[in-house]
Amino acid sequence: MSAIDLRLLPSSTSVDADGHMSIGGVEVKDMASHFGTPLYIYDENHVRARCREAVAAFGADSVIYATKAFLCKAMAKLAHEEGVLLDVATGGEFHVALSAGVPGNRCVMHGNNKSVDELRMAITNEVRHIVVDSFDELQRLEDLHVEGSAAPRIQLRITPGVHVNTHDYVSTGQDDSKFGFNLNNGDAHRAIEQARASAAVDLVGIHCHIGSNVLAIENFEDASKVMVDLFASTGLQELTLGGGLGVAYTERDNAPTMQQWADVLKRAATSLPSTARIYVEPGRSIVAAAGITVYEVGTVKKIDGIRTYVAVDGGMSDNMRPALYESEYEVFDPERATADRKERARIVGKHCESGDILVFDAPVPPNIAAGDLLVTPVTGAYGYSMANNYNKVTRPAVVFVANGEARVVVRRETLDDLTRLDV
Ligand code: LLP
Repeated sequence: MSAIDLRLLPSSTSVDADGHMSIGGVEVKDMASHFGTPLYIYDENHVRARCREAVAAFGADSVIYATKAFLCKAMAKLAHEEGVLLDVATGGEFHVALSAGVPGNRCVMHGNNKSVDELRMAITNEVRHIVVDSFDELQRLEDLHVEGSAAPRIQLRITPGVHVNTHDYVSTGQDDSKFGFNLNNGDAHRAIEQARASAAVDLVGIHCHIGSNVLAIENFEDASKVMVDLFASTGLQELTLGGGLGVAYTERDNAPTMQQWADVLKRAATSLPSTARIYVEPGRSIVAAAGITVYEVGTVKKIDGIRTYVAVDGGMSDNMRPALYESEYEVFDPERATADRKERARIVGKHCESGDILVFDAPVPPNIAAGDLLVTPVTGAYGYSMANNYNKVTRPAVVFVANGEARVVVRRETLDDLTRLDV
């Protein structure tokens, strides 16, 4: 197996003649020694470029960044600066967005089980719209409504009944789903009628999200056809064609580009009046490839005839995706980025279970030893956002790097943080 393919790395990545890798003009090794490991590093200009690419492909005020993919105040601020709206799926995500100075009306409220408090928060802060997910939620909005006050703009989340080629845990558009109003059993039409008749909500559109990490462009074609037909029959003004566009995690993966995705959706929507507003909600495709995780190797265990285990100083607490979805990653040494990865190893973490695996069977450079650095690329989405304190491991710091400067945007947790909620 050859050296790591730089197409998986953030766009500002460079490698010098000695094989030392830099991102944003700063050596990965220097960031690791200065900020410690494990460390999430984001190429800030890469994230900005992805936001701009999405806005260019879909139009101004049509791109809603799904903050669940990666959120902290710096990220919320960056997306807002780039003219992207924010999808918040909980009161917690909304709180972070508001704390970053993003106005409520630049946010869209999501979630399949929004509490009364979350709905009230959305209404009070005048979100752009609420994506309503269930009849219970319509009732909660009814109960919250104060006569004479403005009704919140809502879209209804529709489950179009399409199957996508992704992991079952992240498929969301099939009939057997906890999300949204099913089209095929009539719930979608009943919800549209009910919302139209209600003074408590201002029904402006419909929404769908078919799954995450979708790599087959035909899946978007199928879902958009169903949604565009339904949308045309309602005469509503707004249609959200969700996502989620997949990304390449390994050298074997191929993902459609943002423009290819936009072209498919636009083609599906050509019959609609020009007044129809189409939104998309990318999360992963904005941030995944902008981020890497840097670890330090702690132990190497060779079992003759079986395999080599390389244990790093993080694991399933900073990247749950391999354990949850058997997701695959590449791995390499940022100090030997041009080295042939001609040995194989299983990269594991420091947690107390055998499923704590980061890469199941990775090509690695030869003679990995304790003290070496290892990087997993494409960890910018659903890495930090699903990080946890299993085994009371402290969550890593997050660094943004650009133009030769690296800055901490989320500090590393301390041991004291681990007891700060105890009473
Ligand atoms: N909109 C809605 C309503 C969603 O539920 C999601 C993702 C998105 C947008 C963003 O989709 P994206 O562009 O990121 O694919 N933890 C999983 C991913 C779960 C995604 C759930 N919803 C993972 O690590 O793969």
